[in-house]
Amino acid sequence: MRVLLVGSGGREHALAWKIGQSPLLEELFIAPGNAGTASVGTNLSIQDSDINGLSEYATSKNIDLTIVGPEGPLAAGLVDKFSAVGLKAFGPNRRAAQLEWSKTFAKTFMKDNDIPTSDSLTVNTRDEAVRAADAFGLPVVLKADGLAAGKGVYICESVKEVRTAIDDIVVKRIFGKSGDSLVIEEYLTGSELSVFAFSDGKTISPLVAACDYKRIGNYDQGPNTGGMGAYSPAPFWNPSLEDQIGKEVVEKTLLGMQRIHNEYSGVLFVGLMVTESGPKVLEFNCRLGDPETQTIMPLLEADILEMSMACIDGDLESVEVKWSEESCVTVVLASEGYPATYDTGFPITGLENVSDKSTVFHAGTILSTNGTFNTSGGRVLSVSSKGRNLNEAKMNTYGNINKIGFKNSYFRDDIALGI
Ligand SMILES: Nc1ncnc2c1ncn2[C@@H]1O[C@H](COP(=O)(O)OP(=O)(O)O)[C@@H](O)[C@H]1O
Ligand SMILES: [Mg+2]
Repeated sequence: MRVLLVGSGGREHALAWKIGQSPLLEELFIAPGNAGTASVGTNLSIQDSDINGLSEYATSKNIDLTIVGPEGPLAAGLVDKFSAVGLKAFGPNRRAAQLEWSKTFAKTFMKDNDIPTSDSLTVNTRDEAVRAADAFGLPVVLKADGLAAGKGVYICESVKEVRTAIDDIVVKRIFGKSGDSLVIEEYLTGSELSVFAFSDGKTISPLVAACDYKRIGNYDQGPNTGGMGAYSPAPFWNPSLEDQIGKEVVEKTLLGMQRIHNEYSGVLFVGLMVTESGPKVLEFNCRLGDPETQTIMPLLEADILEMSMACIDGDLESVEVKWSEESCVTVVLASEGYPATYDTGFPITGLENVSDKSTVFHAGTILSTNGTFNTSGGRVLSVSSKGRNLNEAKMNTYGNINKIGFKNSYFRDDIALGI
């Protein structure tokens, strides 16, 4: 199979690494990729937002399968464009990806299909927002409707914070059209969980669950980031919870989408809060997560190309998707200062000392002229390791991440700690 992978982060390096293990692979191209993906395939200078450029390339190079990492191209209709010209691309089309790109759509959809989620109201104006937030009391959660690069959600603990959120979204419109409407919802407490299901629209793969860390500092202090680490499975993950989430959330979602003639195929990533009264959906995403992909790809005991193709062809039923019984822990190595300002261009040392217990996935690195890697981003790379249990996986990861260094490097040292 000739494969095109779209995206450029740690998630895409982990996908490229897994794709590289498939006996079905003939040649892999990554658009635009990063210094890590360059060791598994050929990076292209086509941006992930350039859908026409990607489809022209895929046509001219006889690409059999395109796999899309980030949500942007899915929301922009990459799959629709590719299907229209007879190309196969893994992921939902633009309408089905609405589960992620419109939080108001997702909320209405969940209510219509009796999928457990927090109580909410959808509003469009400042006054409606103020009244709705008042009705919920504090704390309350405000969410801009559209894609906002992980910045469109405000957890408000005071009236002042509510006013700031409404001001940002509705008055200053800092998210532009993504803030045309907003969801105001009940604040939930419990344990957060990311659950992933592959589907061809009808059949659902066994689920895999991970927990991620969004804040920059140990013990969840400081600003939000793209993600500083993850582990799988959650200690409270068990067959009955998997069954419950499968039936009450994933199956109902696929059936609900079929009912509105909007069949969903690809990866369904459900963000959940496991509350005292059961799991409740926080959000849907229409693709894999970063850094959760770096955690779950090492646990996947199936051929990612075979699975992805089966999702497109509607015969996932014929593929045995299996997740390892082992655990995996991922820690992200970042540039000091991230997610605000940071310096780049520092040589990375010690990569050759990482033992085979761990895998290094690149995100913000570039290959320098003398063949070494230099830093080029906020999240530089991540280290993932498996183990018989979370503790062993964590020891392997920290044992190896400590061997890698560069000027101003930073990582959290509490990933999978005390669980
Ligand atoms: N109703 C809620 N109650 C408590 N926390 C929430 C709620 N909704 C979202 N959150 C928190 O905010 C984070 C971001 O919200 P989410 O809906 O996942 O949006 P996005 O990932 O698009 O920014 C979640 O990971 C969760 O920690
Ligand atoms: Mg989220």
